[in-house]
Amino acid sequence: MQKIHAAITAVNGYVPEYILTNKELEGMVETNDEWITSRTGIKERRILKGKLGTTEMAFHAVKGLLEKRGIGAEEIDLIIFCTTTPDMLFPASANILADKIGAVNAWGYDLNAACSGFVFGLATGSQFIETGKHQKVLVVGGDKMSSIIDYKDRTSCIIFGDGCGAVLLEPNQEGFGVIDSILKSDGSGGQYLYQKAGGSLNPATQETIDNREHYLVQEGQAVFKFAVTNMADVAAEVMERNNLSSEDVDWLVPHQANKRIIDATTSRTGLSSDKVMINIEKYGNTTNGTIPLCLWEWESKLKKGDNLILAAFGGGFTWGSIYLKWAY
Ligand code: UT7
Repeated sequence: MQKIHAAITAVNGYVPEYILTNKELEGMVETNDEWITSRTGIKERRILKGKLGTTEMAFHAVKGLLEKRGIGAEEIDLIIFCTTTPDMLFPASANILADKIGAVNAWGYDLNAACSGFVFGLATGSQFIETGKHQKVLVVGGDKMSSIIDYKDRTSCIIFGDGCGAVLLEPNQEGFGVIDSILKSDGSGGQYLYQKAGGSLNPATQETIDNREHYLVQEGQAVFKFAVTNMADVAAEVMERNNLSSEDVDWLVPHQANKRIIDATTSRTGLSSDKVMINIEKYGNTTNGTIPLCLWEWESKLKKGDNLILAAFGGGFTWGSIYLKWAY
């Protein structure tokens, strides 16, 4: 009997309606469209307005996914919610989402690996399918980055946006699905991208709020230096390990942090640019949302048997790559 692989059998995404353009940012911080476009490739990003959290976007993404697949929420066994901006520290957003969609038979948990979260979640979720433990695993990746962004900090507010995507994993014994993954982390990189307060070390006080410590802090250049080499290297490593040449790969699905990091990964893997999913100009960096949102937008172009390489790099530091064969 063929090995059980975890295949993606449905994908869906959701982005909020409000569009924050480079032009609008010009009125908020000292920046300009030319700088943002040339340094990052971003033209606009979506913002979830109002008193709504990340699970609101996940609800829409998953509702559509279940309709597409033609199954009920009660069939879901497990929800892995990859996010850095959960609705609350606890209960887990996986639980909140399960309740919202009616996944009454599912258990779930949140996974926080910053921008690599979705890749970590897909690799982790696959194990439950491969072992035969579960039949239907939902991997959700999404963030309301606008909830932790300091719109007075021009070095970070221009990059991030809100959005969410989700995939369904099911068993496949025809050789389609997740074939291999390489996951890595290096905690010494934590000092370059973090949120200082709000956790057990620095709980919220008047002082932490006055000092703007509940916002994301990023040393852009330091993160860029690690991201540009590690994301490219790990993608190349997973290809080499599976004897895949650039001709064998149909699609590169890179985390959308900076167009220049995507270009470096493209050139390291030797792929032509028409095989690379890029939507950073529309959504910016949605952290856990970038890769599933790409899969959602490119779904109609994907063919059964296509070889996909997913690659991500994020705070932590965390990084990783997945080789998967598209199943439908
Ligand atoms: O997703 C997970 C991980 N995150 C990333 O992968 C992000 C990695 N980092 C980056 O993408 C880039 O480092 C940034 C986009 C954040 C910044 O681009 P950069 O090319 O590294 O710029 P820089 O920080 O070296 O700054 C260059 C100049 C500076 O001015 P001086 O010192 O040369 O006079 C900055 O003050 O650009 C200035 N600058 C800006 N100017 C206009 C910084 N931000 C802006 C801005 N508009 N928004």
